[in-house]
Amino acid sequence: MKFGRYAAALAAIFLIASLAFSQDSVMILNHKEAGAHERPLVHFPHEQHMANIECIQCHHDYDKYHNNKGGEGRPCSDCHGNPGKKGLLPLTDAFHMQCKGCHELMLASGRKTGPVMCGECHVRQ
Ligand code: HEC
Ligand code: HEC
Ligand code: HEC
Ligand code: HEC
Repeated sequence: MKFGRYAAALAAIFLIASLAFSQDSVMILNHKEAGAHERPLVHFPHEQHMANIECIQCHHDYDKYHNNKGGEGRPCSDCHGNPGKKGLLPLTDAFHMQCKGCHELMLASGRKTGPVMCGECHVRQ
């Protein structure tokens, strides 16, 4: 009996989770700073990432001592322009290093992660 209730609760959680990850929580990244797009636009499941990863791992801002004090979700292009502003990584490189870098690192340690191949992020719709 106890197990039945537990299973029902779990099923409810999964249902809520799958609803939360529905289409509208996916951002279609389309920055003009990346230039005229040669590749299909990237669909980024932001909420799915938010659920498992600390905001500060992606949204950074540095104080004068070079400590990461975290960002509030400002567009990456505020700081990473094209060409890169003030010697910072240009926007496309910043995205590739952050997105692909994390996926590659996790893949190397055998964990479940996101895509690393061009066509898996730049998906032809
Ligand atoms: C983990 C996801 C990911 C992978 C893998 C990836 N990209 Fe990207 N790429 C992005 C994101 C995000 C942007 C920024 C798009 C934007 O904001 O407009 C981008 C931008 C670009 C751009 C500039 C915009 C455009 O369409 O011209 C090019 C070119 C590009 N990627 C090529 C590649 C190539 C080639 C590969 C494989 C070697 C690759 N990407 C792999 C996520 C990825
Ligand atoms: C895996 C990386 C990643 C994580 C983790 C992440 N974000 Fe984001 N977030 C992004 C990217 C990429 C964008 C789009 C930035 C752009 O358009 O230049 C974004 C956009 C945003 C935006 C502006 C767009 C919107 O939807 O309103 C806010 C606000 C935001 N994030 C808040 C958060 C908060 C709060 C957390 C933690 C709970 C978080 N993010 C976790 C990568 C991430
Ligand atoms: C408020 C300005 C600002 C915003 C917004 C910003 N960055 Fe950065 N970013 C920086 C600075 C400054 C550095 C250089 C840090 C250093 O030298 O250690 C940096 C460094 C990086 C690096 C180099 C490696 C690392 O992690 O230190 C990557 C990759 C990167 N940013 C990606 C992104 C992405 C993707 C976004 C959007 C989700 C973003 N940045 C938003 C200021 C910003
Ligand atoms: C700090 C690590 C990290 C960063 C940064 C990151 N991801 Fe991911 N990504 C993950 C993990 C972990 C998963 C697997 C999540 C899951 O299956 O629940 C994932 C999954 C994905 C998926 C597959 C989603 C699915 O349901 O199949 C896509 C697409 C993706 N990421 C794109 C991106 C893009 C684009 C960026 C940069 C804007 C990015 N990721 C940045 C860790 C990261």
